[in-house]
Amino acid sequence: MTETPVPPLLSPLTLRGRTLKNRIVISPMCQHAGEDGFATDWHLVHYGKFVLGGAALVLTESTAVAADSRVGIADLGIWSDAHIPGLKRLADFAHANGALMGVQLAHSGRKAFSEPLWHGGRALRPADLDAQGIDWRRVAPSAIAASEEWSIPQALTIEQIDAIRRQHVAAARRADAAGMDVLELHFGHGYLVASFLSPKANLRDDAYGGARDNRMRLAIEIARDVRAVWPADKPLFVRLSCVDGAEGGWDLEDTVDLARRLKAEGVDVIDCSSGGLSEETRRSNVPRGFGFQVPFAERVRAQAGVPTQAVGIITTPEQANAIIAGGKADLVAIGREALRNPYWPAEAWRRLTGAEGFDAWHERHGAWLSKREPVLRQLRAEEDRQ
Ligand SMILES: Cc1cc2nc3c(=O)[nH]c(=O)nc-3n(C[C@H](O)[C@H](O)[C@H](O)COP(=O)(O)O)c2cc1C
Repeated sequence: MTETPVPPLLSPLTLRGRTLKNRIVISPMCQHAGEDGFATDWHLVHYGKFVLGGAALVLTESTAVAADSRVGIADLGIWSDAHIPGLKRLADFAHANGALMGVQLAHSGRKAFSEPLWHGGRALRPADLDAQGIDWRRVAPSAIAASEEWSIPQALTIEQIDAIRRQHVAAARRADAAGMDVLELHFGHGYLVASFLSPKANLRDDAYGGARDNRMRLAIEIARDVRAVWPADKPLFVRLSCVDGAEGGWDLEDTVDLARRLKAEGVDVIDCSSGGLSEETRRSNVPRGFGFQVPFAERVRAQAGVPTQAVGIITTPEQANAIIAGGKADLVAIGREALRNPYWPAEAWRRLTGAEGFDAWHERHGAWLSKREPVLRQLRAEEDRQ
């Protein structure tokens, strides 16, 4: 009897000393459920669902390296050692239940502090932040606001840039102490590092501005600094906006160059997103269709020779499997579809293998579901006969 080949989406992938049991990653998704950066019960249940749902790797939402530069007031944080135990609880749960856990490190730069989407998603006003006594700051390469709704950020001095580099290093050490398997650096969506990359946001005339090499300097330095302290057996991912969507902005060719250099610094996966630099790019020039960012992952993978993660409106197992089978990406990240159905990876296993059992489910659930299956079949057959 010949063995049925494993569908590519379900095949394992080893990156350094970590093996992902399949190619399915849960994409970072802000929850606005933290308290002073501390993980709460919400996070354990929210991320725990994805662990039980069969994903190989669950990435946290953007987790702030600095208290004053969160995406939202209630973001997860990693700016103090006190945050480690809450994050460790998430990683421990993942490890006890067959998944890897990663943390996405972020500094939100000139787009710090916005409302949750269900409150409108707008930039919070300085007066309101002050009134709430929040320690906040909007900083950027240059004093240019992301759009009219945002306040004008402070242009960073070299000393302040150095301090932000150190914040990333301290955060990486804490992520390791929390038992995280993967670190993802958030260099996309118009946040701090993305704003350094884009000629639309970065008008500096020092070593961090001007030519592309200079605009890439901060990204490369942070990757290098972090790689130096992040254990050699743990993978490092970088999320990029492969095109920022702005006219005359950062484009795919720039991304390929940066990806090559990040790879040389020891980055293992480029997570290929897009947009977010400004209001102009929130409604990005990139047309939104099924898998609309997959071509970015494909090109970066082919031309920079680095593994990629595809993300964005990937909704069916067949679509995801075709991305991996076609050599367009090494991993797929699932966001909203996993909110709709945290068991998406386990269902994908069933759909793609045609298996009747529930082996991809946790045994506490799968054993019962498998046992029920013949009963359901019999009941359906009886119904059909009536
Ligand atoms: C609720 C929500 C929160 C998000 N927060 C983040 C985030 O913290 N960091 C990030 O890089 N992307 C974030 N994103 C973008 C997702 O990671 C993903 O790239 C995007 O939703 C497209 O994938 P999808 O079509 O599978 O949802 C968020 C998306 C959603 C829906």
